[in-house]
Amino acid sequence: GFAQVSVTIDASKSGPVINKNVYGQFAEHLGTGIYEGLWVGQDSKIPNTRGWRNDVVGALKDLKVPLVRWPGGCFADEYHWRDGIGARNKRPVKVNTHWGGVAEVNAVGTHEFFDLVDILGTEAYINGNLGSGTPQEMAEWLEYMTSDTKSSLAEQRRKNGRKEPYKVAYFGIGNEAWGCGGNMKPEYYAHLYNHYATFLKTPPNARPKMVASGGNDADTKWTEVLSKEAARGTDGISFHYYTLPTGVWEKKGAATGFEENEWFSTLQQTLRMDGFIKNNVAILDKNDPEKKIGFYVDEWGTWYDVEPGTNPGFLFQRNTLRDAVVAALNFNIFHAHAERVRMTNIAQMVNVLQAMIITDKDKMLLTPTYHAYKMYVPFQDATSLPTAVNNDVSYSANNKSIPGISASAAKGKDGKVYVALVNTNPRQASDVVVDLKGQNVTGASGQVLTSDAMDAHNTFDKPQAIKPVSYSAKAANGKLTLKVPAKSVVVVAVEV
Ligand code: AHR
Repeated sequence: GFAQVSVTIDASKSGPVINKNVYGQFAEHLGTGIYEGLWVGQDSKIPNTRGWRNDVVGALKDLKVPLVRWPGGCFADEYHWRDGIGARNKRPVKVNTHWGGVAEVNAVGTHEFFDLVDILGTEAYINGNLGSGTPQEMAEWLEYMTSDTKSSLAEQRRKNGRKEPYKVAYFGIGNEAWGCGGNMKPEYYAHLYNHYATFLKTPPNARPKMVASGGNDADTKWTEVLSKEAARGTDGISFHYYTLPTGVWEKKGAATGFEENEWFSTLQQTLRMDGFIKNNVAILDKNDPEKKIGFYVDEWGTWYDVEPGTNPGFLFQRNTLRDAVVAALNFNIFHAHAERVRMTNIAQMVNVLQAMIITDKDKMLLTPTYHAYKMYVPFQDATSLPTAVNNDVSYSANNKSIPGISASAAKGKDGKVYVALVNTNPRQASDVVVDLKGQNVTGASGQVLTSDAMDAHNTFDKPQAIKPVSYSAKAANGKLTLKVPAKSVVVVAVEV
């Protein structure tokens, strides 16, 4: 029979607000993530708005994308912003050395990116170049974007078509300084961070939240050093963790056609996010007891072997039901750490790694990850509620176990209580009793995302092969029981 699990939600005690920027995106100059996937240029036959393709932008608007990080990633530390302003046909062509060695034509630069930000109704997280740029270059970029004076840089921005300053919501000082950003030690980076940050000036009301580039995976040293040595004026320390099915970079595992052992190991790997966040937050609690500094997971998601026959530098992979489950498990983890995790950016928005959308010339498809983001929209800026899973059935494979059910609940801005449930077990459904302490629950309605196959995915021939369907349940004898299918994500609003 079905296993019986219960989820207890205490709606009388509100936890921290889940910052909407937890649902942030990342768009790097990498593969077809920007060129082709988002930007086709205004002369393209593909319908576009000043160069940005209408189909992709329209779908992203439905996700209520709160924030987009740009232009990298590793690319950020070799990006020189002056290459991307002025007449588009006069911009220099560079080599994208990190990603496939292809030509970077600089058609998308500062003005084009902010146009996308406006079209999407989102906010900008600009990542500056610390690795191969100077403090002067970085300071001048920020002045160019934000100055409301008559300075030559502000006038140049106006001449290039933008009168009002741009709003830079977040500004990152370098990226992965431990690796592609310069192969530095945290102490050395902390000095550089302070050095560069000293010269980043804006009008007082236009100061972005400053982001120090932190560590990755199990390494907590960067958080330790930066929260001591690079804390002044710093709004967040970043962190990267990618989910690899095998955990091994040389042979990561395939995006489709995998067996249950890799379904299991992928979920097990992704659940490590919780421990990584806990360990870093413990350090922040020690060094920053006033909780000024956020922990920004500004790169995360699945990273598989590239699709056979594609440019290995383009990081193109398919996206299946497994990716949606990975996304939802991480959302639930982020909600549980909402106090410090105030921003995350999945890698990446279109055509790269765990993408929302995949395009092929004039076609596009929405991935299962897109659908998970859409289902979780009510959690943006919602107030988290203490949630406990009782009598959980664990899911076992490979002689190991992980939790069978992951749950999260929050009070949305519309006043409704939303509950998200993930069933990690690909073979067994679970009956989950939802107990909203002290309240008489009458039912629940929302959506479920699941499929028969672990690697169910959408293709250009069958773009609707996997998508959410409506879901509802009524309470019986004062008890609300939700049937959570095997390998599924369920998000419902509870009716009282
Ligand atoms: O998202 C792809 C790459 O992964 C980013 O450019 C880099 O920061 C990380 O190593």
